[in-house]
Amino acid sequence: MNAAPPLLIRNATLPDGRGDIDLLALDGRIAALGPALPAPAGAVAIDAQGWLLSPPFVDAHFHLDATLSFGLPRVNASGTLLEGIQLWGELKPLLTEEAIAERALQYCDWAVARGLLAIRSHVDVCDERLLAVRALIEVKRRVAPYLDLQLVAFPQDGLLRTAGALDTLRRALDLGLDVVGGIPHFERTYEQGGESVRLLCELAAERGLPVDLHCDETDDPQSRHIETLAFQARRLGLQGRVTGSHLTSMHSMDNDYAAKLVALIADSGVHAVANPLINITLQGRRDSYPKRRGMTRVPELMAAGVTVGFGHDCVLDPWYALGSADMLEVAAMGLHVAQMTAQAAQRQCFDAVTVNSARILGLQGYGLDVGCRADLVLLQARSPEEALRLRAQRLLVVRGGTVLSRMAPASAELHLPGRAGGRPFSVDFTRQPGPAPGGADR
Ligand code: FE2
Repeated sequence: MNAAPPLLIRNATLPDGRGDIDLLALDGRIAALGPALPAPAGAVAIDAQGWLLSPPFVDAHFHLDATLSFGLPRVNASGTLLEGIQLWGELKPLLTEEAIAERALQYCDWAVARGLLAIRSHVDVCDERLLAVRALIEVKRRVAPYLDLQLVAFPQDGLLRTAGALDTLRRALDLGLDVVGGIPHFERTYEQGGESVRLLCELAAERGLPVDLHCDETDDPQSRHIETLAFQARRLGLQGRVTGSHLTSMHSMDNDYAAKLVALIADSGVHAVANPLINITLQGRRDSYPKRRGMTRVPELMAAGVTVGFGHDCVLDPWYALGSADMLEVAAMGLHVAQMTAQAAQRQCFDAVTVNSARILGLQGYGLDVGCRADLVLLQARSPEEALRLRAQRLLVVRGGTVLSRMAPASAELHLPGRAGGRPFSVDFTRQPGPAPGGADR
């Protein structure tokens, strides 16, 4: 492949608020960043017109093997997590490698168009044939030029609950899966849940792999496997390589215990992933009123220094009938559910779908510093808060200095009596230039 010409993006605003910034991408990397950069010979120049230039979105938790299968072989009538697992069990014997790969590839196309260039996907390994594993290894190879796909060996039906699951999980790792997964709260007994956490962490330590468990995805406040996960991470020296996904039971825990637990999670270097769209729809299903929200304690975990990422988890599958690879929708739901409406808290939610999730995935060269990979998304917004408010258009998506996707700016042409002298005029929903957010007018 020929080397891409230098790419010079002019007049961008950065997430930290710096304006009128130019970015030069050379040989796939950010070569320079600053005001009024000189254009090298042969450079492709793009005027960002003051829009927000960010590193791309990162999804810390997804299921590519199930995505876009909504309605196959039937719809989840109760809308619950458990019927979703049952429905996935009905679908599994009907799956083909080709169909899984085709749907996953289509989802990756959506992701790129939305500026989502890195996904950690769990893959069900409770299948003798390892169909989904083989399909997604092939998808990973095919999307590698434009999207980082990380695959988690996930025993959906339980590591100890399912005969042969430990063996198929090992085989999946042998085939090249990247991360050790698990689901301790779904094992037959609480003790077996704890035992599965120990086995999985030891397996990860033995193979030098990260761990990412579906952990305590229930409204039961007694589900405390995250405590064991934090303990094992410390015992085995896995700090910084272990993630607890969902952690929804923490929503319902006693505050005293939760305070102790948050400190333990921080101390053990375990990361947390919330899945706001899925948690708010799947949890609290047995409640009458008031109904619990079910999302884990995001602001408290962040305040304790835990790296918290957000995941989309599901799109058009047995668990969720909506979604479109839009990580701004995920983050906006997260900020609403956690009531993180202050300006700084909104930025933390933006971080949860960008830098925090990149740290959880261990992505190398991610960010906006010189020397980082020139992976970028240009958003039709002036700030991260505005991007969240508007689910901003992804005007440009760039990978390694090459433009992958362009999207037209959102605008409308209005024809309003008594306005603009009766002439049509255009309107967009971005904040017009004026006092900075957080200024005296707020
Ligand atoms: Fe999940």
